[in-house]
Amino acid sequence: MSIPSRSVDPFHALPVVDVSALYGSDPLRIEQTVSALRRAASDVGFLYVTNHGVSAQRISDLEHVAQEFFALPARTKEEYYIGRSSNHRGYVPPGEEVFYSQTRDTKEAFDLSRELPEADYGAAGRFLGPNVWPREVPRFRQVVSAYYESVFDLGHKLLAAFAQALELPASYFDRYLQRPTSQLRLIHYEPTVVGENTTGIGAHTDYECLTLLHATSPGLQVINGAGQWVEAPPLPGAFVVNIGDLLEVWSNGVFVSTSHRVLSVPAPRYSFPLFFTVDYETEVEPLPHLSRDGKRYPPVIAGEHLLAQTMQSFRYLIDQRAQGLVSLPDGSRELSSFGRERQAR
Ligand code: OGA
Ligand code: NI
Repeated sequence: MSIPSRSVDPFHALPVVDVSALYGSDPLRIEQTVSALRRAASDVGFLYVTNHGVSAQRISDLEHVAQEFFALPARTKEEYYIGRSSNHRGYVPPGEEVFYSQTRDTKEAFDLSRELPEADYGAAGRFLGPNVWPREVPRFRQVVSAYYESVFDLGHKLLAAFAQALELPASYFDRYLQRPTSQLRLIHYEPTVVGENTTGIGAHTDYECLTLLHATSPGLQVINGAGQWVEAPPLPGAFVVNIGDLLEVWSNGVFVSTSHRVLSVPAPRYSFPLFFTVDYETEVEPLPHLSRDGKRYPPVIAGEHLLAQTMQSFRYLIDQRAQGLVSLPDGSRELSSFGRERQAR
């Protein structure tokens, strides 16, 4: 079997894929699901995933603790400022991140990852180690950790299905999942006025393998092949899943890491992306069986790509670079060098 080429028609809505078959053992249903995932990943780069097995209670608990945290006074939240941690954990105030468009984001966020003991992880230590936990919200740690584990498991299941969609064994990527740097972000957007020089989150692609997102209200927009922004409002009971830069490289561009943004929101909005990725040291390069006509991408080290992109968008790291405390990995790409916008350029 060969992988069909991408549809030329621009999409106007995200495809919906029911993934219940991935929890069963019916080979025909699994194959149909894998085919639907392949089409979505190559034609759109974004999809809704339904019947995913993550409980509604986990999701609503997460919404509640996030609301409680973001409602704390600014000076309390600042105590957990991400720039104070050595492994990129904690509170991200409004304006901290600057994207390609150079507009300042109005969102605030809280970044975390899997809790690991303090240890020497080498270069990967920039993203590995213990989390920061706000004491003011007692249930925060337990609720957020439970959500992380559930959605991480779903990400793992989806990555296995995407491996099959690329004609690989389902377990192909497992070798790269010893200590992945997969981050969960809790994001809060306050209402803004359209037309003022602000965006919720500027247009970007995600830097990892897959993103799994739950949001409380509309706002997310996704670019199609004709350069039009398509609304991707939440679908009840579904996660929005998108392909990140690493799967674009591995698939030699068969899968696309599609640009997306949040311009403005009419009412407070919360969203929760989990950026599912592989170990820091993983060398990602186009798979040979997908590169018979040539490799369209140079190899990239998974963690260095994440670090390079993070260093170019977070103010605290831009400042540390200006002071000569940290430097970009060799061969770093500029922001926004992947995805459909780049392919159209
Ligand atoms: C992101 C992102 C979209 C949203 O954090 O990378 O694209 O809906 N978020 O908040
Ligand atoms: Ni994103």
